[in-house]
Amino acid sequence: MTPVSKSDSIIIVGAGAFGLSTALHLAQAGYRNITVFDKGAEIPSPFSAANDVNKILREALEAWKTPLFAPHYHQTGFLHCVSEAAPQKAVNTLNSFRASAERHPEVRKHIVPIDSRDDIIGAVRQFQDGSLPGWKGYLNQYDGYAHSSNALKAVHEACIALGVQFILGEAGDIAEILYETPTDHANHQTRKATGIRTRQNTTHNATLVIIAAGASAPNLIPSLGTQIVARSWSIAHIQLSAAEASSLRGIPVTYARDLGFLFEPEPATGLLKLCPMGGGFVNTDPATGVSRPPDALADSGFVPAGDGRRLRRLLAQTLPGLADRPFVGERLCWFADTADSDYIVDYVPDTSRSVVLLSGDSGHGFKMFPIVGSWVRSLLEEGDGNQKVLRWRWKSPAVDLAGNWGDAVSWRVGSSEEFRDIRASRS
Ligand SMILES: Cc1cc2nc3c(=O)[nH]c(=O)nc-3n(C[C@H](O)[C@H](O)[C@H](O)COP(=O)(O)OP(=O)(O)OC[C@H]3O[C@@H](n4cnc5c(N)ncnc54)[C@H](O)[C@@H]3O)c2cc1C
Ligand SMILES: *[C@@H]1O[C@H](CO)[C@@H](O)[C@H](O)[C@H]1NC(C)=O
Ligand SMILES: *[C@@H]1O[C@H](CO)[C@@H](O)[C@H](O)[C@H]1NC(C)=O
Ligand SMILES: *[C@@H]1O[C@H](CO)[C@@H](O)[C@H](O)[C@H]1NC(C)=O
Repeated sequence: MTPVSKSDSIIIVGAGAFGLSTALHLAQAGYRNITVFDKGAEIPSPFSAANDVNKILREALEAWKTPLFAPHYHQTGFLHCVSEAAPQKAVNTLNSFRASAERHPEVRKHIVPIDSRDDIIGAVRQFQDGSLPGWKGYLNQYDGYAHSSNALKAVHEACIALGVQFILGEAGDIAEILYETPTDHANHQTRKATGIRTRQNTTHNATLVIIAAGASAPNLIPSLGTQIVARSWSIAHIQLSAAEASSLRGIPVTYARDLGFLFEPEPATGLLKLCPMGGGFVNTDPATGVSRPPDALADSGFVPAGDGRRLRRLLAQTLPGLADRPFVGERLCWFADTADSDYIVDYVPDTSRSVVLLSGDSGHGFKMFPIVGSWVRSLLEEGDGNQKVLRWRWKSPAVDLAGNWGDAVSWRVGSSEEFRDIRASRS
């Protein structure tokens, strides 16, 4: 038995990457009463982690080649290296990514070893002035990036064409999930959701509520505790002239694991995006131990000094002519981190399958944009209500109650810091 029929009302909270994909897949499957709420006034929502010019793609590439998504997919290749200064942890991560690409029969053919500066300049002539000290790794010509904000817009339009309703801006800012009075079972209480209440105090009823609120999910589902930790990474851009932007057309996504990555400039604006990655920044409430994104966007409108310096080094080693240009569009971008870097796609316990949580992107979820909604559909339609993919289940809260696993995540370099400490060090 499925918890919802095609005519039942479904509310999706969040029109970021996961919420839009869910609306698309459910509408395509014939669900007729879907309403998506987002506190951002437009799509892309300025609060979405995917409100951005580009995101690295390494997976779901077949789905990115289908008609709705293909215009936003750019197969520029992925130059994946470490510099001479990289810690061993970064080298190990690079090697494990490489081994995984080389195991794949289709991808393997597109891997080019990079063992020297000459190898890089042979592949990417635009880096001919770069010192590239000790850079080693590989070029994967199979991978590339997506123009994320354009892809979000395209899916928003496709959803509207399929009859999905959108309530955006202040009227779409959700304060809480509403529940019936709990009923007592053998040893615990079960409560069924009836809908949601907005911050403007309007209620909307629904048979099923799907929470796709990214890093803000714990605001709406307090029982999540520290299963999800709001964490942020820096983003900065360099403004190029039209001529400079066209000279960098087609460069691969370039990632030195110890310094960060840069992308082909956005053709329409000439913006070259930079991201230093690293351990990121959390915003822990000392009372509860839960990290939440700051409420005001303006609070996240900067890049900490240490990140700024790493990005300058990345530019100095690749495109030294740009190393001293001012940064524009600096901000911290908040995502929903889990201890095992895996998603959560599951019913919230003890809600009689009336609330689904879709979160835990861990900073690498955009690549799944074309398909993530199909996982929700499978949960609703297949099986007995138990998520079959064990790693996507509601997680045991016992992992680490303080949520301090950031530094331990194998693929990240550097430790995480508290937002309140870095605010003082704006670059
Ligand atoms: C700097 C950075 C770089 C990244 N790079 C990559 C990459 O290269 N490749 C990749 O695959 N992924 C990347 N990601 C991750 C990717 O952006 C996320 O995985 C993806 O956006 C997660 O989608 P989501 O829908 O869960 O969350 P979001 O896209 O953040 O969307 C959540 C939405 O919920 C809304 N919302 C929240 N609370 C409420 C509320 N109470 N009421 C109404 N609406 C609400 C917000 O407005 C927002 O629109 C990166 C992330 C960051 C921060
Ligand atoms: C969708 O569901 C809501 C809430 O149950 C209901 O008020 C509305 O009439 C429904 N819309 C359609 C088109 O069925
Ligand atoms: C919200 O609306 C409900 C019922 O419509 C009302 O009882 C309550 O007082 C309102 N709350 C606020 C904060 O306005
Ligand atoms: C919405 O749900 C509440 C609680 O179940 C109910 O009292 C109310 O009548 C419903 N409203 C509509 C419009 O269906």
